[in-house]
Amino acid sequence: MCKQRVLSGVQPTGNLHLGNYLGAINNWVKIQQNYDNFFCVVDLHAITVPHNPQILAQDTYTIAALYLACGIDLEHATIFVQSHVTAHSQLAWLLNCITPLSWLERMIQFKEKALKQGENVSVGLLDYPVLMAADILLYNADCVPVGEDQKQHLELTRNIATRLNDQFATPESPVVKIPEPLIRTEGARIMSLTDGTRKMSKSDLSDMSRINLLDPPELIIKKIKRCKTDSIRGLEFDNLERPECNNLLKLYGLLSGKTKEEVIFECQGMGWGKFKPLLSETTVEALKPIQMKYKDIMGNKDYLESVLKKGKEKAEAVANQTLERIKLVLGYLVPF
Ligand code: AMP
Ligand code: TRP
Repeated sequence: MCKQRVLSGVQPTGNLHLGNYLGAINNWVKIQQNYDNFFCVVDLHAITVPHNPQILAQDTYTIAALYLACGIDLEHATIFVQSHVTAHSQLAWLLNCITPLSWLERMIQFKEKALKQGENVSVGLLDYPVLMAADILLYNADCVPVGEDQKQHLELTRNIATRLNDQFATPESPVVKIPEPLIRTEGARIMSLTDGTRKMSKSDLSDMSRINLLDPPELIIKKIKRCKTDSIRGLEFDNLERPECNNLLKLYGLLSGKTKEEVIFECQGMGWGKFKPLLSETTVEALKPIQMKYKDIMGNKDYLESVLKKGKEKAEAVANQTLERIKLVLGYLVPF
């Protein structure tokens, strides 16, 4: 039987943090054997907010190398750079013309990011979910593994796909597949180290709010030592008054591979003075193999480039076919 298709991506904006890892990439790794996977470095998305051209290419290498270092296996997955496959921007244009503006104005992430940028907010930021829909639909993806913050964008992708099928195809032979989100409950929302009510984010001004996958051990220890806690005795999950406590225990469970019950049994009687060093050590140990592998891969750019070149070819073969199919139903003149 043919394997179902997975597609997902991360933006090359700086380095990845534990939220990206536990909410997205680690889940890709866990399920990769069961699917035919396409993992893309979504560099076209990275310029929807002001960016630095001096580091975009380097960040693109970094994210591709981190995919491999986190355990993405080329036997099951194709890794490629979004801007290398021109069908993404072409399909985004076609989808733009069938997407009502009001659907985009409703996106929570747009509203949040636009608020921060005021007058300077770009059309690209508003349009970003349409490009994301193009990323997904080009590969006929069955499932899209992401963190919870992307749920609304996936719902939009499904709506755009349905509209395209309804307006330009028949129920018997739809032109695009309707994808399903794959959001695992554990790790779907990792919170900031400095405020347990806000998600860990690349765009937080304070680096102390997140642990990056490439942070050296001393920095990880320092960040955990300084992270926000509370003064209540004992440690517990799911107490709404203690968001930081819940988040740190969750991190410990996910990074040590222990279940919630095991974590409660081990940690409920601990104070922060005992728990923080344990969490630091667990984090450092969990990230060590990733950091070593990352260094190896970045030391061998030829290898990394050959992975991305092959990835581009495989991705293009699938994406161009879908694009042609969509152009055909939209009535475009086929080139001679
Ligand atoms: P981004 O950094 O926005 O490109 O996000 C890449 C992936 O990481 C997406 O699947 C997000 O849903 C996921 N992600 C980002 N931040 C978090 C977080 N704090 N907790 C869980 N998942 C996250
Ligand atoms: N919008 C996603 C994010 O910021 C990244 C992304 C772009 C994506 N295209 C995608 C994720 C396609 C999944 C599938 O996290």
